[in-house]
Amino acid sequence: MSHTAVEYSGPERVFSGVQPSGDLHLGNYLGALKNWVELQDAHDCVYCIVDLHAVTVWQDPKKLADQTRNIAAAFLASGVDPAKSIIYPQSRVKAHTELAWYFNCVARVGWLNRMTQFKDKAGKNSEKMSVGLYDYPVLQAADILAFKGTHVPVGEDQKQHLELSRDIAAKFNNDFDVPAFFPLPEPLIQGPGARIMSLRDGSNKMSKSDPSDNSRINLTDSADVIAKKIRKAKSDAGVIPESIEEMDGRPEVANLVGIYAALSGQSQQDVLSEYVGQGFGVFKPALADLTVAKMGPITELMKRYLAAPDEIDRILAAGADAADQIATPIVDDVRDIMGFWKV
Ligand code: AMP
Ligand code: TRP
Repeated sequence: MSHTAVEYSGPERVFSGVQPSGDLHLGNYLGALKNWVELQDAHDCVYCIVDLHAVTVWQDPKKLADQTRNIAAAFLASGVDPAKSIIYPQSRVKAHTELAWYFNCVARVGWLNRMTQFKDKAGKNSEKMSVGLYDYPVLQAADILAFKGTHVPVGEDQKQHLELSRDIAAKFNNDFDVPAFFPLPEPLIQGPGARIMSLRDGSNKMSKSDPSDNSRINLTDSADVIAKKIRKAKSDAGVIPESIEEMDGRPEVANLVGIYAALSGQSQQDVLSEYVGQGFGVFKPALADLTVAKMGPITELMKRYLAAPDEIDRILAAGADAADQIATPIVDDVRDIMGFWKV
């Protein structure tokens, strides 16, 4: 990083988001939510349900609001506490879309052309995708920077989008000669939970959009379903090895060991040492028990929150007001910096 004389020295703030485009799964929990909960005691945290990102692909208008409540219930059930953190839907705070437009005029086409997630999602059909899907990472930068977010807890798949956010922040600061205005947000990508893979194929990440439901553990799955999915998970005829290097070329094994480590809070090496020499007839039932023990209470709590949608709506409305109060003055400053007319 170049060392300008003045750099952002404002307060630290954690910002992250999840799309309301389907049920959350174990990858979302271990890659994102679990870390969000750990951060909220010592930091100022803003957690957003990014519905504007969700509509970059078709969303049924009859379902979108309920999907948003569903994600809010998952946040709350995982332990995100509205007394400590701000929780709100992105579309209720206008600063996101406004700043995204200004950033559209800062970001370069070449930068967006390099985004691998767009290429993965669009495949051969890029000409038929929405302009929003292509522009998605610019809106993400606006999300974070409308709050001057300094730290962004996400899974590994968001690394490139975070680099783009930093590039946009740095170019804005540089173009308008305000070197201390935006922080360069840092990704917090932590531990074995940062990249959870499909239970059916260790080379694909666990994803909401995988057509096979057996590929993922949903936050809404019952104990029986969780146990069945883990029993059916792809593994091999070998045993749990002694060292991490020995899992090279065995992606499914590495994934199951990684899930165990992330859920139990141990290192992967500790898990290997505990189970070395055991086959999957032993390891899978242990993993199923651990997963049910950790996820069962979250599933139950989620059901309770979903039975009280008015309570969720109250939390989201209060969160949106609090978010608006932070983001609006920041975007007003951006307008001044860019020199727009005002009275
Ligand atoms: P999304 O569901 O794409 O909105 O992702 C929400 C959050 O979960 C982001 O921080 C992602 O990086 C994270 N995430 C999604 N899938 C996984 C996965 N398979 N492993 C770890 N983190 C994930
Ligand atoms: N793109 C992120 C994902 O799919 C979601 C997201 C949108 C986000 N805006 C964000 C994450 C801001 C962190 C910060 O997972």
